[in-house]
Amino acid sequence: MQYNTISVKATREYDICIGRGILAGIGDMISPILGKCRLAVLTDSNVDALYGSTMMEYLASAGYDACKYVIPAGEASKCAENLLAFLTFLAQEQLTRSDAVVAFGGGVVGDLGGLSASLYLRGVKYIQVPTTLLAAVDSSVGGKTAIDIPAGKNLVGSFYQPSLVCCDTALMDSLPSDIYRDGCAEVIKYGMILDARLYDTLHTIPFDREAVVARCIEIKRDVVQQDEFDNGVRGLLNFGHTFGHAIEKLSDFGVSHGEAVAKGMVIAARIAPLCGLCDVADELSALLLQYGFDITCGYSANEIYNALLSDKKRRGGNISVILPRAIGECVLYDMPVEELKGLLQKVM
Ligand code: GLY
Repeated sequence: MQYNTISVKATREYDICIGRGILAGIGDMISPILGKCRLAVLTDSNVDALYGSTMMEYLASAGYDACKYVIPAGEASKCAENLLAFLTFLAQEQLTRSDAVVAFGGGVVGDLGGLSASLYLRGVKYIQVPTTLLAAVDSSVGGKTAIDIPAGKNLVGSFYQPSLVCCDTALMDSLPSDIYRDGCAEVIKYGMILDARLYDTLHTIPFDREAVVARCIEIKRDVVQQDEFDNGVRGLLNFGHTFGHAIEKLSDFGVSHGEAVAKGMVIAARIAPLCGLCDVADELSALLLQYGFDITCGYSANEIYNALLSDKKRRGGNISVILPRAIGECVLYDMPVEELKGLLQKVM
């Protein structure tokens, strides 16, 4: 089976395999890493209905004894109750330290599965099998795991790298267009922050999925290798996210992550010239509109400001925002939160 492999050197070294239809070979990818072991597959109700039995057959035909746990699809499942329920399932199934978790789904499953693997028996291995574009290019790579708690999204989590990522791009064929588009916002983000050539290719819609996914993963790999624990350059991956998270929160998560990131990137691009950086807001807005994003913010500067005061990226009285210096080059810009309030009032 032909696939592209990208290797990551972090606290754990692992490969990311990318290709169309490669799920059929998942057993052959897992066995050199884990050998003979039991596998607990975590998935959601949507993925299970489409691909659950196929996955279990592929694992069984490769000689793996696997059990499956299904959570309801949706962000609400990324919660403490499901974390505890899945950990209890792992214990009931008597998984041992030499066994592993397979997170088969989008970002919710990947984050919950990864966190569970980092906690169960103080850490068992896990494999990411992303099924959405967003999970493929972002959440399945780099080892951030989390659940949401009532006080905020992703507030409880760990850095815990997977042992393998198996990214079968054919699984994305069945995604509803709005879910696929959510991933496109992250793809555009990669072009904006670090790769003008990638950005240019995105004007051709639809883009070459395998090539674009591989390039985004390469960019993320390079960033994670420099700053695995998110103390510096990894912050660039949050371009559009500081404002995006505020919009998600204000909408009570009615605005999807990708839609919110698209809006957030436009706000950041509008702020950039006020900080002496370039003005790419019109160019970026035009591309986002081509993808069908609604880039109107829908909230006032004060509402956004108040919502982002609880952002994880805030340190003391300062907040780090990511601003474009050019298409393909963003910078981290630290400023007092009060200054950001004034800038928001000017651009909105
Ligand atoms: N999703 C941003 C990061 O992995 O750092």
